[in-house]
Amino acid sequence: MQAQIKKAVALLQAGGLVALPTETVYGLAADASNEKAVARIFAAKGRPAFNPLIVHVPSVDAAKRLAFFGPLEEALAAHFWPGPLTLVVPVKAQVGLSPLVTAGLSTVALRVPEHPIMREVLTLSGLGLAAPSANRSGRISPTTAQHVRDDLGGAVDFIIDGGETSEGLESTIVKVNEADNIVHVLRPGTVTIAALQAVVDGWVNGAFNIGLTNTEESGGNEESEGVRGVQVLSSFEVAGESGHEADDVAARPEAPGQLLKHYAPKARVRLGATDLNQGEGLLDFGAEDFAAGCKPAAYYNLSEAGDLREAARRLYAGLHYLDGLNIEVIAVRPLPTRGVGAAINDRLQRAAAASGRDDEV
Ligand code: TXA
Ligand code: MG
Repeated sequence: MQAQIKKAVALLQAGGLVALPTETVYGLAADASNEKAVARIFAAKGRPAFNPLIVHVPSVDAAKRLAFFGPLEEALAAHFWPGPLTLVVPVKAQVGLSPLVTAGLSTVALRVPEHPIMREVLTLSGLGLAAPSANRSGRISPTTAQHVRDDLGGAVDFIIDGGETSEGLESTIVKVNEADNIVHVLRPGTVTIAALQAVVDGWVNGAFNIGLTNTEESGGNEESEGVRGVQVLSSFEVAGESGHEADDVAARPEAPGQLLKHYAPKARVRLGATDLNQGEGLLDFGAEDFAAGCKPAAYYNLSEAGDLREAARRLYAGLHYLDGLNIEVIAVRPLPTRGVGAAINDRLQRAAAASGRDDEV
């Protein structure tokens, strides 16, 4: 592994493209300060230029060199980094990022990943790494090196095989609204709304206490009271409503990757299936018997134990597997929406909206 990491670092420093594991999905990485290298990411993925990239850095300090962090963003970073949370924050001027990375926005998406291979590459290279998921734009994200080979093969200079990723879904993306400190979830992930809310609540209480020590200057507790109301809002459903095609330049949803048609298998995806039609493959969850009907043409269980974390980890592998069998329809058993279930259902809905419509993704 050490030799692979060294090779990846050398390639990245020379402007190459390297696919490598993170704890969420495999990323397609390039030096975020190298315009040509970043342009190659967009070309390899067939990604529209208006869709900005996440920059991966080794530490909170490295992140703060690139962008402005308010106190709530600091609290979120301190709690969740390294880990599967991406923060969209105001970008600083002249920090050397390729303008392609931010697609002309005044903000940048930053993440300190947890995966040891990615961490080592970041530390040894000394680079900020722009890294979208290592799949062609609109397709299913990769959770193994084989998924990357199948989808991007020749377009990548090197792939580090670090086995299956542990989270299985892309990072949760949040943006704190400056005016009222409301945390907007632009893309749900394995950092759940409840986990975010717990940190926000802790931060609010902390701020309240600090506020109390300043009561004379601030003229009472008014400010602190305001802070108390801070919430986590999931705006991803609204952002996703746009349903714009991936190449529609006029479409600039808040998290552009949240285009409705995304994560698309070739097969049609039928959600909420409680029975099966002839010839359908089944993406199952839990151990309950299916009411009636025929035997599935192909079968993959996301979690026999009904464990949503396991289902998240196995979702893309299941979609890749069933889609590889060239069945026409993937029927999906209903999954609970609690906790990580929100993110799984989000990805399934996008897969269903995009699926079986090759011409439109
Ligand atoms: O887990 C992950 O986040 C993976 C791994 C490789 O880190 N990366 C990933 O990247 O999922 P990608 O490019 O597939 O998704 C990044 C999302 C896109 O939806 C993009 O529109 C959004 O982040 N994004 C990037 N910069 C943004 C910004 N300044 N404001 C709002 N959304 C932004
Ligand atoms: Mg992606």
